[in-house]
Amino acid sequence: MSEMKAEIYARVAKEIAAVIEGETSVVARYATAACLLNEAFDHYFWTGFYTIDPLKPEQLVIGPYQGTLGCLRIPIGRGVCGMCAQKGETVLVDDVHAFEGHISCDSRSNSEIVVPVFDAQGHITAILDVDSTELAAFDSVDQDGLEAICATLYPKA
Ligand code: SME
Repeated sequence: MSEMKAEIYARVAKEIAAVIEGETSVVARYATAACLLNEAFDHYFWTGFYTIDPLKPEQLVIGPYQGTLGCLRIPIGRGVCGMCAQKGETVLVDDVHAFEGHISCDSRSNSEIVVPVFDAQGHITAILDVDSTELAAFDSVDQDGLEAICATLYPKA
C-alpha cells in the first residue's frame, strides 16, 4: 500500500512539473497542484493552499483549493495550518478533534497534514493543507510525497 502511494506521488509530481514548467504565477502553480493532487488520491477530502498575506503578515489567507468551503483567514500560530506556518515544518494530525485550537472549516474532516511552501529565498510563503474524512489518513509517505512537490512549487527567481 505504502509503495503504491509513493509511486502515485512520484507520478503526480511529474504531472505537476510538466504543467507548471515556465509558469511564473504562483496562483496558477498552486491551482495546478491542488487539482492534480486532489484527483489522484481517494483519501483526500480537502486540498488547498493558504498564503501569508503580504498586507497582513500575521495572517494566512485562502489560496487555490479543491473541496468544500474553506475558512478565508487563519491567524499564524492558530490551528494546524497556523502552527505549520509558524514552525515552518510539516504538521501531521491523526485526529483533528484531539488537536487543541484546530479550526474546523468542515466537520467531516478527521485528520490532516499541512506542509510548508518556501519562496526562492527560503522564507515560508504558503502552506498546503490536505484534510481527510478518515482518522489517521496520512503518514510519512504522504509527508515525503507532499514535501517533494511543495519544494517545486515556488517559481525560481
Ligand atoms: N483545519 C485547518 C483549517 C483549514 S481547513 O481545514 C480548510 C486548521 O486547523 O488549521
